[in-house]
Amino acid sequence: INGKQKNIVWHDCPVTKSDRQELINQKGCVIWITGLSGSGKSSLACTLSRALHNRGKLSYILDGDNLRHGLNSDLTFEAEDRAENIRRVGEVAKLFADAGVICIASLISPYRRERAACRALLPQGDFIEVFMDVPLHVCEARDPKGLYKRARAGKIKGFTGVDDPYEPPLDCEIVIQNNRDKGLSSSSSSLSEMAEIVVSYLDENGYLK
Ligand code: PPS
Repeated sequence: INGKQKNIVWHDCPVTKSDRQELINQKGCVIWITGLSGSGKSSLACTLSRALHNRGKLSYILDGDNLRHGLNSDLTFEAEDRAENIRRVGEVAKLFADAGVICIASLISPYRRERAACRALLPQGDFIEVFMDVPLHVCEARDPKGLYKRARAGKIKGFTGVDDPYEPPLDCEIVIQNNRDKGLSSSSSSLSEMAEIVVSYLDENGYLK
């Protein structure tokens, strides 16, 4: 709670997180997918969500691009706003996990400190960080939205990886490497293999019982 908040008191509800989890036979957690633009975060999030759905597990995607159409539409790509973007998504993800949902957050989230702060919001183990380890030149070759081209031409300032920083995780739960130059959407088998890596992790760590 930050220093601006005064005279507010936390109110507990007798229906607890474990009550909710028991009701829907799930264990809430956050799968946080970080990586450069074009690294395949959203594609993985969608394939993973489908795989979980097929196993009877409720998941929900918080996608950076999509949230910037609504909740985060007031934020720019300046460092301070990116940090606020990550903070808000972390808080929302925590609420979803608290509801018993497997929350899949996919946003660039370029700063280690902010990702660590989101991790700290969750109980130990419930924040699963997935790094899309795709080299810049591969993301740039894919350029699915033509944004790298625009950034290189100076039409977008402060583009992650071009003239804005990305801090890769030093220690995260899952690293996914995909160096294929082609867009991920054209190689659905590799996408399902990547989703399977995450599903296996969840299985092995008791999130899919
Ligand atoms: S961040 O850094 O976590 O706040 O970014 P995020 O909310 O995930 O939004 C990233 C998407 O916004 C588009 N976009 C940019 N990305 C990076 N830098 C700049 N300057 C920028 N401007 C627009 C881009 O489409 C990103 O989408 P993804 O899905 O990552 O390709």
